[in-house]
Amino acid sequence: MDLRLIFLELEIKMFSSLRISGTILATVSIVFLSNLLAEAQDVRFPSFPKRSSFPSDFFFGAGSSALQIEGAAHEGGRGPNVFLDVDKFSTQIEHYKRYKEDVQHLKKLGINSYRMSISWSRIMPDGTLKGGINQEGVDFYNHLIDELLANGITPFVTILHFDFPLALQQNLGGFLNHSIVKHYKDYSELLFKTYGDRVKHWSTINEVEVTALFNYMHSFDKVPAEPCQITRECKQAYVVLHNYLLAHAAATHLYKKKFQAAQRGEIGLVLSSQSFVPYSSKPEDVAASKRSMDFYLGWVVEPVVRGHYPKIMRKLVGDRLPRFTKKQRKMIKGSADFIGINYYASHFSKYEPNKTNINLADNYDSLASSQEFNAEGKTLGYLDKFGGAYVYPEGLYDVLLHLKRKYKNPKIYITENGIGSMNLTNPLIDNHRIQYIAAHLNYIKAAIDKGVNVNGYFIWAAFDTFEFQAGYLKRWGLYHIDFKGNLKRQPTAAAEWYKNFLRS
Ligand SMILES: *[C@@H]1O[C@H](CO)[C@@H](O)[C@H](O)[C@H]1NC(C)=O
Ligand SMILES: *[C@@H]1O[C@H](CO)[C@@H](O)[C@H](O)[C@H]1NC(C)=O
Ligand SMILES: *[C@@H]1O[C@H](CO)[C@@H](O)[C@H](O)[C@H]1NC(C)=O
Repeated sequence: MDLRLIFLELEIKMFSSLRISGTILATVSIVFLSNLLAEAQDVRFPSFPKRSSFPSDFFFGAGSSALQIEGAAHEGGRGPNVFLDVDKFSTQIEHYKRYKEDVQHLKKLGINSYRMSISWSRIMPDGTLKGGINQEGVDFYNHLIDELLANGITPFVTILHFDFPLALQQNLGGFLNHSIVKHYKDYSELLFKTYGDRVKHWSTINEVEVTALFNYMHSFDKVPAEPCQITRECKQAYVVLHNYLLAHAAATHLYKKKFQAAQRGEIGLVLSSQSFVPYSSKPEDVAASKRSMDFYLGWVVEPVVRGHYPKIMRKLVGDRLPRFTKKQRKMIKGSADFIGINYYASHFSKYEPNKTNINLADNYDSLASSQEFNAEGKTLGYLDKFGGAYVYPEGLYDVLLHLKRKYKNPKIYITENGIGSMNLTNPLIDNHRIQYIAAHLNYIKAAIDKGVNVNGYFIWAAFDTFEFQAGYLKRWGLYHIDFKGNLKRQPTAAAEWYKNFLRS
Protein backbone atom coordinates (compact mmCIF):
# COMPACT_ATOMS: atom_id res chain seq x y z
CA MET A 1 0.00 0.00 0.00
CA ASP A 2 1.57 3.11 -1.17
CA LEU A 3 0.56 6.23 0.56
CA ARG A 4 -1.40 7.55 -2.38
CA LEU A 5 -3.91 4.76 -1.86
CA ILE A 6 -4.52 5.91 1.62
CA PHE A 7 -4.98 9.35 0.18
CA LEU A 8 -7.42 7.97 -2.31
CA GLU A 9 -9.52 6.75 0.57
CA LEU A 10 -8.92 9.98 2.40
CA GLU A 11 -10.10 11.86 -0.62
CA ILE A 12 -13.23 9.77 -0.76
CA LYS A 13 -13.86 10.52 2.90
CA MET A 14 -13.18 14.20 2.42
CA PHE A 15 -15.34 14.45 -0.61
CA SER A 16 -18.26 12.85 1.15
CA SER A 17 -17.91 15.28 4.03
CA LEU A 18 -17.67 18.09 1.50
CA ARG A 19 -20.96 17.04 0.00
CA ILE A 20 -22.58 17.17 3.38
CA SER A 21 -21.06 20.49 4.25
CA GLY A 22 -23.26 22.38 1.84
CA THR A 23 -23.74 23.75 -1.59
CA ILE A 24 -21.43 26.73 -1.34
CA LEU A 25 -18.24 24.75 -1.30
CA ALA A 26 -19.62 22.34 -3.87
CA THR A 27 -20.34 25.17 -6.28
CA VAL A 28 -16.90 26.64 -5.75
CA SER A 29 -15.29 23.32 -6.50
CA ILE A 30 -17.30 22.76 -9.66
CA VAL A 31 -16.14 26.11 -11.07
CA PHE A 32 -12.62 25.25 -9.98
CA LEU A 33 -12.83 21.83 -11.61
CA SER A 34 -13.99 23.11 -14.97
CA ASN A 35 -11.12 25.60 -15.03
CA LEU A 36 -8.69 22.83 -14.38
CA LEU A 37 -10.20 20.61 -16.99
CA ALA A 38 -9.70 23.32 -19.58
CA GLU A 39 -6.17 23.79 -18.33
CA ALA A 40 -5.29 20.11 -18.35
CA GLN A 41 -6.52 19.62 -21.89
CA ASP A 42 -4.58 22.29 -23.67
CA VAL A 43 -1.74 21.85 -21.17
CA ARG A 44 0.15 25.09 -20.89
CA PHE A 45 3.37 24.35 -19.13
CA PRO A 46 4.71 27.08 -16.90
CA SER A 47 8.30 26.20 -17.69
CA PHE A 48 10.00 23.00 -18.69
CA PRO A 49 12.91 21.70 -16.69
CA LYS A 50 16.07 20.90 -18.64
CA ARG A 51 18.22 17.80 -18.24
CA SER A 52 21.30 19.99 -18.48
CA SER A 53 20.36 21.93 -15.37
CA PHE A 54 20.84 18.76 -13.31
CA PRO A 55 24.28 17.28 -12.57
CA SER A 56 25.48 15.00 -15.37
CA ASP A 57 25.84 12.04 -12.98
CA PHE A 58 22.29 12.53 -11.66
CA PHE A 59 20.25 9.32 -11.71
CA PHE A 60 17.06 9.58 -13.75
CA GLY A 61 14.96 6.45 -13.59
CA ALA A 62 11.60 4.82 -13.06
CA GLY A 63 10.44 2.32 -10.49
CA SER A 64 8.47 -0.82 -9.78
CA SER A 65 8.17 -3.47 -7.09
CA ALA A 66 8.35 -7.26 -7.41
CA LEU A 67 4.87 -8.02 -6.16
CA GLN A 68 3.25 -5.42 -8.34
CA ILE A 69 4.63 -6.49 -11.69
CA GLU A 70 6.21 -9.94 -11.64
CA GLY A 71 3.20 -12.23 -11.69
CA ALA A 72 4.18 -15.92 -11.58
CA ALA A 73 3.14 -15.98 -7.93
CA HIS A 74 2.88 -19.76 -7.86
CA GLU A 75 5.70 -20.45 -10.29
CA GLY A 76 9.44 -20.81 -10.22
CA GLY A 77 9.44 -22.16 -6.66
CA ARG A 78 8.19 -18.95 -5.08
CA GLY A 79 6.68 -19.31 -1.61
CA PRO A 80 3.47 -17.53 -0.59
CA ASN A 81 3.86 -14.07 0.92
CA VAL A 82 1.73 -11.95 3.21
CA PHE A 83 -0.32 -10.62 0.35
CA LEU A 84 -2.61 -13.59 0.19
CA ASP A 85 -4.85 -12.24 -2.49
CA VAL A 86 -2.03 -13.16 -4.85
CA ASP A 87 -4.46 -14.24 -7.45
CA LYS A 88 -5.17 -10.62 -8.11
CA PHE A 89 -1.43 -10.26 -8.29
CA SER A 90 -0.73 -13.54 -10.02
CA THR A 91 -1.33 -12.47 -13.60
CA GLN A 92 0.09 -9.00 -13.24
CA ILE A 93 1.99 -7.90 -16.27
CA GLU A 94 4.04 -11.09 -16.40
CA HIS A 95 7.29 -9.26 -15.90
CA TYR A 96 8.77 -12.53 -14.58
CA LYS A 97 8.46 -13.99 -18.06
CA ARG A 98 8.86 -10.85 -20.12
CA TYR A 99 11.70 -9.12 -18.26
CA LYS A 100 13.97 -9.07 -21.31
CA GLU A 101 11.37 -7.24 -23.33
CA ASP A 102 10.76 -4.90 -20.38
CA VAL A 103 14.43 -4.01 -20.11
CA GLN A 104 14.31 -3.04 -23.79
CA HIS A 105 11.38 -0.73 -23.03
CA LEU A 106 13.35 0.84 -20.19
CA LYS A 107 16.30 1.29 -22.50
CA LYS A 108 14.13 3.02 -25.10
CA LEU A 109 13.05 5.42 -22.41
CA GLY A 110 16.67 6.52 -22.08
CA ILE A 111 16.79 6.22 -18.29
CA ASN A 112 20.13 5.47 -16.66
CA SER A 113 18.68 3.70 -13.62
CA TYR A 114 15.78 1.49 -12.57
CA ARG A 115 14.33 0.98 -9.09
CA MET A 116 13.17 -2.59 -8.50
CA SER A 117 12.63 -4.88 -5.55
CA ILE A 118 13.38 -8.50 -4.79
CA SER A 119 10.67 -10.86 -3.61
CA TRP A 120 11.89 -12.46 -0.37
CA SER A 121 9.70 -15.54 -0.84
CA ARG A 122 11.04 -16.09 -4.35
CA ILE A 123 14.53 -16.34 -2.86
CA MET A 124 13.67 -18.04 0.45
CA PRO A 125 10.22 -19.61 0.17
CA ASP A 126 9.54 -19.68 3.93
CA GLY A 127 11.73 -16.72 4.75
CA THR A 128 14.45 -18.67 6.55
CA LEU A 129 17.81 -20.12 5.55
CA LYS A 130 16.75 -23.36 7.19
CA GLY A 131 13.77 -23.55 4.85
CA GLY A 132 16.14 -23.47 1.89
CA ILE A 133 17.11 -21.24 -0.98
CA ASN A 134 15.17 -21.32 -4.23
CA GLN A 135 17.81 -21.34 -6.95
CA GLU A 136 15.30 -20.55 -9.69
CA GLY A 137 14.39 -17.34 -7.90
CA VAL A 138 18.04 -16.45 -7.34
CA ASP A 139 18.67 -17.00 -11.06
CA PHE A 140 15.77 -14.79 -12.11
CA TYR A 141 17.25 -11.74 -10.38
CA ASN A 142 20.73 -12.61 -11.65
CA HIS A 143 19.37 -12.53 -15.20
CA LEU A 144 17.36 -9.36 -14.64
CA ILE A 145 20.31 -7.50 -13.09
CA ASP A 146 22.65 -8.66 -15.87
CA GLU A 147 20.13 -7.63 -18.51
CA LEU A 148 19.79 -4.15 -16.99
CA LEU A 149 23.55 -3.65 -16.79
CA ALA A 150 24.10 -4.93 -20.31
CA ASN A 151 21.70 -2.21 -21.45
CA GLY A 152 23.38 0.58 -19.54
CA ILE A 153 20.82 0.77 -16.72
CA THR A 154 21.97 0.92 -13.08
CA PRO A 155 19.78 -1.13 -10.75
CA PHE A 156 18.58 0.39 -7.45
CA VAL A 157 17.40 -2.60 -5.47
CA THR A 158 14.92 -2.57 -2.59
CA ILE A 159 15.35 -5.58 -0.31
CA LEU A 160 11.85 -5.44 1.17
CA HIS A 161 9.01 -3.65 -0.56
CA PHE A 162 6.05 -4.78 1.61
CA ASP A 163 5.97 -8.45 0.54
CA PHE A 164 7.58 -10.78 3.05
CA PRO A 165 7.05 -14.56 3.31
CA LEU A 166 3.75 -15.72 4.78
CA ALA A 167 5.45 -18.34 6.95
CA LEU A 168 7.18 -15.56 8.90
CA GLN A 169 3.82 -13.97 9.58
CA GLN A 170 2.25 -17.28 10.61
CA ASN A 171 5.13 -18.62 12.69
CA LEU A 172 6.45 -15.45 14.29
CA GLY A 173 3.79 -12.81 13.93
CA GLY A 174 5.81 -10.97 11.30
CA PHE A 175 7.45 -7.70 12.33
CA LEU A 176 5.71 -7.75 15.71
CA ASN A 177 8.32 -10.30 16.71
CA HIS A 178 11.88 -9.15 17.16
CA SER A 179 13.16 -12.54 16.01
CA ILE A 180 12.26 -11.64 12.41
CA VAL A 181 15.31 -9.33 12.43
CA LYS A 182 17.65 -12.31 12.27
CA HIS A 183 15.85 -13.75 9.23
CA TYR A 184 15.83 -10.40 7.47
CA LYS A 185 19.55 -10.15 8.10
CA ASP A 186 20.17 -13.64 6.67
CA TYR A 187 18.11 -12.77 3.60
CA SER A 188 19.98 -9.48 3.12
CA GLU A 189 23.33 -11.21 3.48
CA LEU A 190 22.42 -13.66 0.76
CA LEU A 191 21.51 -10.74 -1.53
CA PHE A 192 24.75 -8.88 -0.82
CA LYS A 193 26.77 -12.05 -1.45
CA THR A 194 24.89 -12.98 -4.59
CA TYR A 195 24.28 -9.66 -6.30
CA GLY A 196 26.56 -7.17 -4.55
CA ASP A 197 29.27 -7.49 -7.19
CA ARG A 198 26.82 -5.77 -9.57
CA VAL A 199 24.27 -3.98 -7.37
CA LYS A 200 25.73 -0.79 -5.87
CA HIS A 201 22.58 0.89 -4.56
CA TRP A 202 20.60 -0.95 -1.90
CA SER A 203 17.49 0.19 -0.06
CA THR A 204 16.69 -1.91 2.99
CA ILE A 205 12.97 -1.31 3.40
CA ASN A 206 10.25 0.67 1.64
CA GLU A 207 7.83 2.94 3.55
CA VAL A 208 7.91 1.36 7.03
CA GLU A 209 5.71 4.08 8.48
CA VAL A 210 2.96 3.31 5.98
CA THR A 211 2.91 -0.33 7.07
CA ALA A 212 2.93 0.62 10.75
CA LEU A 213 0.13 3.14 10.45
CA PHE A 214 -2.07 1.56 7.88
CA ASN A 215 -1.79 -2.13 8.76
CA TYR A 216 -1.45 -1.76 12.49
CA MET A 217 -2.61 1.51 13.99
CA HIS A 218 -5.65 1.71 11.76
CA SER A 219 -6.02 -2.02 11.23
CA PHE A 220 -7.40 -1.25 7.81
CA ASP A 221 -9.83 1.21 9.31
CA LYS A 222 -11.33 -1.00 11.99
CA VAL A 223 -11.04 1.69 14.62
CA PRO A 224 -11.55 0.42 18.16
CA ALA A 225 -13.88 2.41 20.36
CA GLU A 226 -11.54 2.79 23.35
CA PRO A 227 -9.08 5.64 23.69
CA CYS A 228 -6.18 4.81 21.45
CA GLN A 229 -3.66 4.84 24.26
CA ILE A 230 -5.01 1.65 25.83
CA THR A 231 -5.52 -0.33 22.62
CA ARG A 232 -3.38 -2.97 21.02
CA GLU A 233 -3.25 -0.97 17.78
CA CYS A 234 -1.65 2.05 19.36
CA LYS A 235 1.07 -0.12 20.81
CA GLN A 236 1.68 -2.52 17.94
CA ALA A 237 2.33 0.19 15.36
CA TYR A 238 5.35 1.34 17.37
CA VAL A 239 6.66 -2.17 17.98
CA VAL A 240 6.38 -3.05 14.29
CA LEU A 241 8.16 0.06 13.13
CA HIS A 242 10.84 -0.44 15.79
CA ASN A 243 11.54 -3.97 14.54
CA TYR A 244 11.66 -2.72 10.95
CA LEU A 245 14.25 -0.16 12.00
CA LEU A 246 16.26 -2.82 13.82
CA ALA A 247 16.12 -4.99 10.69
CA HIS A 248 17.34 -2.04 8.64
CA ALA A 249 20.13 -1.43 11.17
CA ALA A 250 21.17 -5.10 11.20
CA ALA A 251 21.41 -5.23 7.41
CA THR A 252 23.25 -1.93 7.01
CA HIS A 253 25.66 -2.83 9.81
CA LEU A 254 26.43 -6.14 8.13
CA TYR A 255 26.84 -4.52 4.71
CA LYS A 256 29.21 -1.88 6.04
CA LYS A 257 31.25 -4.38 8.01
CA LYS A 258 31.52 -7.20 5.51
CA PHE A 259 30.75 -6.00 2.00
CA GLN A 260 30.97 -2.26 1.47
CA ALA A 261 34.74 -1.93 1.25
CA ALA A 262 35.05 -4.59 -1.44
CA GLN A 263 31.80 -3.94 -3.30
CA ARG A 264 31.92 -0.14 -3.03
CA GLY A 265 28.16 0.31 -2.92
CA GLU A 266 25.78 2.31 -0.75
CA ILE A 267 22.82 1.38 1.40
CA GLY A 268 19.91 3.45 2.66
CA LEU A 269 16.20 3.26 3.31
CA VAL A 270 13.06 4.61 1.68
CA LEU A 271 10.21 6.41 3.37
CA SER A 272 7.06 8.10 2.26
CA SER A 273 6.96 11.82 2.80
CA GLN A 274 4.66 14.78 2.76
CA SER A 275 4.71 18.35 3.88
CA PHE A 276 2.25 19.55 6.54
CA VAL A 277 0.94 23.08 6.24
CA PRO A 278 -0.91 24.65 9.20
CA TYR A 279 -4.69 24.49 8.83
CA SER A 280 -4.97 28.03 10.16
CA SER A 281 -2.69 30.63 11.73
CA LYS A 282 -3.82 29.57 15.23
CA PRO A 283 -0.83 28.55 17.35
CA GLU A 284 -2.30 25.08 17.98
CA ASP A 285 -2.50 24.40 14.23
CA VAL A 286 1.01 25.70 13.65
CA ALA A 287 2.23 23.40 16.44
CA ALA A 288 0.20 20.52 14.96
CA SER A 289 1.92 20.86 11.59
CA LYS A 290 5.37 20.70 13.20
CA ARG A 291 4.32 17.73 15.29
CA SER A 292 2.96 15.93 12.23
CA MET A 293 6.34 16.26 10.55
CA ASP A 294 8.06 14.69 13.58
CA PHE A 295 5.48 11.91 13.87
CA TYR A 296 5.70 11.10 10.19
CA LEU A 297 9.14 11.81 8.78
CA GLY A 298 10.97 12.11 12.10
CA TRP A 299 9.69 8.74 13.32
CA VAL A 300 12.03 7.06 10.84
CA VAL A 301 14.67 9.65 9.99
CA GLU A 302 15.53 10.76 13.52
CA PRO A 303 16.56 7.26 14.73
CA VAL A 304 18.54 6.71 11.54
CA VAL A 305 20.39 10.02 11.86
CA ARG A 306 20.54 10.54 15.64
CA GLY A 307 19.84 7.13 17.19
CA HIS A 308 16.58 7.99 18.96
CA TYR A 309 12.94 8.87 18.28
CA PRO A 310 11.84 12.53 18.17
CA LYS A 311 11.49 14.08 21.62
CA ILE A 312 7.84 14.98 21.07
CA MET A 313 7.06 11.35 20.26
CA ARG A 314 8.74 10.15 23.44
CA LYS A 315 6.68 12.67 25.38
CA LEU A 316 3.29 11.92 23.82
CA VAL A 317 3.62 8.16 23.26
CA GLY A 318 5.41 7.43 26.53
CA ASP A 319 6.01 3.81 27.43
CA ARG A 320 4.36 2.50 24.30
CA LEU A 321 7.29 3.77 22.27
CA PRO A 322 10.08 1.17 22.43
CA ARG A 323 13.58 2.29 23.34
CA PHE A 324 16.81 1.42 21.60
CA THR A 325 19.41 -0.28 23.76
CA LYS A 326 22.83 1.30 23.82
CA LYS A 327 24.11 -1.22 21.33
CA GLN A 328 21.14 -0.75 19.00
CA ARG A 329 21.48 3.01 19.18
CA LYS A 330 25.07 2.75 18.07
CA MET A 331 24.07 0.49 15.22
CA ILE A 332 21.21 2.58 13.88
CA LYS A 333 22.75 6.03 14.26
CA GLY A 334 24.23 7.03 10.93
CA SER A 335 23.17 3.72 9.38
CA ALA A 336 21.84 5.13 6.10
CA ASP A 337 24.18 6.30 3.33
CA PHE A 338 21.14 7.97 1.78
CA ILE A 339 17.48 8.66 2.44
CA GLY A 340 15.00 7.71 -0.27
CA ILE A 341 11.94 9.93 -0.36
CA ASN A 342 8.64 8.92 -1.92
CA TYR A 343 6.49 11.98 -2.51
CA TYR A 344 3.00 12.35 -3.99
CA ALA A 345 1.02 15.05 -2.16
CA SER A 346 0.79 17.09 1.03
CA HIS A 347 -1.85 18.07 3.56
CA PHE A 348 -2.96 20.74 5.95
CA SER A 349 -2.47 19.77 9.56
CA LYS A 350 -5.07 20.62 12.20
CA TYR A 351 -4.91 20.30 15.97
CA GLU A 352 -7.15 17.37 16.86
CA PRO A 353 -7.19 15.87 20.34
CA ASN A 354 -10.27 13.76 19.61
CA LYS A 355 -9.29 10.48 18.01
CA THR A 356 -12.74 10.04 16.45
CA ASN A 357 -11.88 12.86 14.08
CA ILE A 358 -8.46 11.59 13.00
CA ASN A 359 -8.08 10.50 9.40
CA LEU A 360 -6.91 7.13 8.12
CA ALA A 361 -3.08 7.39 7.70
CA ASP A 362 -2.72 9.86 10.58
CA ASN A 363 -1.10 8.90 13.84
CA TYR A 364 -3.59 9.26 16.73
CA ASP A 365 -0.85 10.18 19.13
CA SER A 366 0.21 13.18 17.08
CA LEU A 367 -3.00 14.96 18.11
CA ALA A 368 -3.26 16.26 14.58
CA SER A 369 -5.37 15.38 11.59
CA SER A 370 -4.62 15.77 7.90
CA GLN A 371 -7.00 17.94 5.92
CA GLU A 372 -7.49 18.60 2.22
CA PHE A 373 -9.07 22.00 2.91
CA ASN A 374 -7.80 24.65 5.31
CA ALA A 375 -9.87 26.88 7.59
CA GLU A 376 -10.63 29.14 4.63
CA GLY A 377 -11.72 26.26 2.40
CA LYS A 378 -8.57 26.46 0.25
CA THR A 379 -6.66 23.44 -1.03
CA LEU A 380 -2.94 22.84 -1.41
CA GLY A 381 -2.26 23.21 -5.10
CA TYR A 382 -4.71 22.33 -7.84
CA LEU A 383 -6.94 19.33 -8.29
CA ASP A 384 -5.78 17.17 -11.15
CA LYS A 385 -8.99 15.69 -12.40
CA PHE A 386 -7.28 12.94 -14.38
CA GLY A 387 -5.01 12.05 -11.52
CA GLY A 388 -7.73 12.29 -8.88
CA ALA A 389 -5.41 14.16 -6.53
CA TYR A 390 -4.20 17.62 -5.54
CA VAL A 391 -0.87 18.58 -7.04
CA TYR A 392 1.49 20.46 -4.73
CA PRO A 393 5.12 20.25 -5.82
CA GLU A 394 6.05 22.98 -3.30
CA GLY A 395 5.47 20.28 -0.67
CA LEU A 396 8.34 18.22 -2.06
CA TYR A 397 10.56 21.30 -1.95
CA ASP A 398 9.54 21.84 1.69
CA VAL A 399 10.31 18.22 2.61
CA LEU A 400 13.74 18.47 0.96
CA LEU A 401 14.63 21.68 2.77
CA HIS A 402 13.35 20.26 6.04
CA LEU A 403 15.64 17.24 5.65
CA LYS A 404 18.61 19.44 4.88
CA ARG A 405 18.00 21.78 7.82
CA LYS A 406 17.04 19.25 10.44
CA TYR A 407 19.09 16.18 9.50
CA LYS A 408 22.53 17.43 8.50
CA ASN A 409 21.99 17.62 4.75
CA PRO A 410 21.75 13.89 4.00
CA LYS A 411 22.24 12.37 0.58
CA ILE A 412 18.78 12.02 -0.95
CA TYR A 413 17.13 10.18 -3.81
CA ILE A 414 13.54 10.87 -4.83
CA THR A 415 12.67 7.19 -5.03
CA GLU A 416 9.02 7.66 -6.05
CA ASN A 417 7.08 10.51 -7.57
CA GLY A 418 4.21 10.50 -10.00
CA ILE A 419 0.48 10.63 -10.47
CA GLY A 420 -2.04 8.11 -11.73
CA SER A 421 -4.35 8.40 -14.70
CA MET A 422 -8.06 7.86 -14.89
CA ASN A 423 -10.90 8.96 -17.10
CA LEU A 424 -8.64 9.72 -20.04
CA THR A 425 -10.32 9.48 -23.44
CA ASN A 426 -7.15 7.96 -24.79
CA PRO A 427 -5.11 6.26 -22.07
CA LEU A 428 -1.90 7.01 -23.95
CA ILE A 429 -2.46 10.76 -23.88
CA ASP A 430 -1.61 11.53 -20.27
CA ASN A 431 -0.64 15.20 -20.51
CA HIS A 432 -1.62 15.85 -16.91
CA ARG A 433 1.26 13.59 -15.87
CA ILE A 434 3.75 15.55 -17.96
CA GLN A 435 2.60 18.65 -16.15
CA TYR A 436 2.96 16.90 -12.78
CA ILE A 437 6.45 15.54 -13.47
CA ALA A 438 7.74 18.79 -14.98
CA ALA A 439 6.49 20.80 -12.00
CA HIS A 440 8.12 18.45 -9.51
CA LEU A 441 11.41 18.45 -11.39
CA ASN A 442 11.40 22.25 -11.31
CA TYR A 443 11.03 22.20 -7.53
CA ILE A 444 13.74 19.55 -7.14
CA LYS A 445 16.05 21.75 -9.17
CA ALA A 446 15.16 24.70 -6.93
CA ALA A 447 16.00 22.59 -3.85
CA ILE A 448 19.33 21.55 -5.35
CA ASP A 449 20.08 25.23 -5.96
CA LYS A 450 19.47 25.77 -2.22
CA GLY A 451 22.12 23.18 -1.44
CA VAL A 452 19.93 20.12 -0.87
CA ASN A 453 21.90 16.98 -1.72
CA VAL A 454 19.51 15.31 -4.21
CA ASN A 455 21.16 12.71 -6.42
CA GLY A 456 18.41 11.00 -8.35
CA TYR A 457 14.76 10.91 -9.37
CA PHE A 458 12.59 7.86 -10.09
CA ILE A 459 9.16 8.18 -11.62
CA TRP A 460 6.55 5.86 -10.19
CA ALA A 461 5.97 3.75 -12.14
CA ALA A 462 7.78 2.26 -15.09
CA PHE A 463 4.81 0.04 -15.97
CA ASP A 464 1.19 -0.04 -14.91
CA THR A 465 1.27 -1.71 -11.54
CA PHE A 466 -1.33 -3.40 -9.44
CA GLU A 467 -1.79 -1.03 -6.52
CA PHE A 468 -2.11 -2.65 -3.13
CA GLN A 469 -5.65 -1.49 -2.46
CA ALA A 470 -6.87 0.23 -5.56
CA GLY A 471 -5.87 -2.39 -8.13
CA TYR A 472 -5.85 -0.93 -11.61
CA LEU A 473 -8.34 1.82 -10.81
CA LYS A 474 -5.68 4.30 -11.83
CA ARG A 475 -2.88 3.66 -14.29
CA TRP A 476 0.57 4.63 -13.09
CA GLY A 477 2.88 3.38 -15.81
CA LEU A 478 5.03 5.29 -18.26
CA TYR A 479 4.29 2.13 -20.20
CA HIS A 480 0.59 1.48 -20.53
CA ILE A 481 -0.44 -2.17 -20.37
CA ASP A 482 -3.23 -3.46 -22.57
CA PHE A 483 -4.90 -6.07 -20.38
CA LYS A 484 -7.17 -7.14 -23.19
CA GLY A 485 -4.41 -7.31 -25.79
CA ASN A 486 -1.75 -9.77 -24.69
CA LEU A 487 -0.38 -7.33 -22.10
CA LYS A 488 1.10 -5.17 -24.82
CA ARG A 489 3.33 -2.40 -23.44
CA GLN A 490 2.90 1.02 -25.04
CA PRO A 491 4.68 4.25 -24.09
CA THR A 492 2.37 7.06 -23.00
CA ALA A 493 2.82 10.73 -23.87
CA ALA A 494 4.55 11.15 -20.50
CA ALA A 495 7.05 8.43 -21.46
CA GLU A 496 7.78 10.25 -24.73
CA TRP A 497 8.16 13.51 -22.85
CA TYR A 498 10.56 11.95 -20.32
CA LYS A 499 12.58 10.43 -23.16
CA ASN A 500 12.92 13.81 -24.89
CA PHE A 501 13.75 15.52 -21.63
CA LEU A 502 16.54 12.99 -21.00
CA ARG A 503 17.92 13.43 -24.49
CA SER A 504 17.92 17.23 -24.45
C1 LIG B 1 8.61 -14.95 18.30
O1 LIG B 1 9.34 -15.91 17.57
C2 LIG B 1 9.82 -16.98 18.35
C3 LIG B 1 10.65 -17.85 17.45
O2 LIG B 1 11.83 -17.21 17.08
C4 LIG B 1 8.67 -17.74 18.95
O3 LIG B 1 9.15 -18.77 19.76
C5 LIG B 1 7.78 -16.82 19.73
O4 LIG B 1 6.63 -17.49 20.14
C6 LIG B 1 7.38 -15.63 18.90
N1 LIG B 1 6.66 -14.67 19.72
C7 LIG B 1 5.43 -14.32 19.46
C8 LIG B 1 4.83 -13.30 20.39
O5 LIG B 1 4.78 -14.74 18.52
C1 LIG C 1 -15.17 13.45 19.51
O1 LIG C 1 -15.78 13.66 18.25
C2 LIG C 1 -17.01 12.99 18.11
C3 LIG C 1 -17.46 13.17 16.65
O2 LIG C 1 -17.23 14.47 16.18
C4 LIG C 1 -18.01 13.53 19.13
O3 LIG C 1 -19.22 12.84 19.01
C5 LIG C 1 -17.44 13.33 20.53
O4 LIG C 1 -18.30 13.92 21.48
C6 LIG C 1 -16.06 13.96 20.63
N1 LIG C 1 -15.46 13.61 21.91
C7 LIG C 1 -14.85 14.51 22.67
C8 LIG C 1 -14.27 13.97 23.94
O5 LIG C 1 -14.76 15.69 22.37
C1 LIG D 1 -13.44 8.15 -13.47
O1 LIG D 1 -12.73 6.95 -13.20
C2 LIG D 1 -13.10 6.33 -11.99
C3 LIG D 1 -12.16 5.19 -11.77
O2 LIG D 1 -12.07 4.36 -12.90
C4 LIG D 1 -14.55 5.92 -12.05
O3 LIG D 1 -14.93 5.31 -10.84
C5 LIG D 1 -15.39 7.16 -12.30
O4 LIG D 1 -16.75 6.78 -12.47
C6 LIG D 1 -14.93 7.91 -13.54
N1 LIG D 1 -15.63 9.18 -13.64
C7 LIG D 1 -16.12 9.64 -14.78
C8 LIG D 1 -16.75 10.99 -14.71
O5 LIG D 1 -16.06 9.03 -15.83
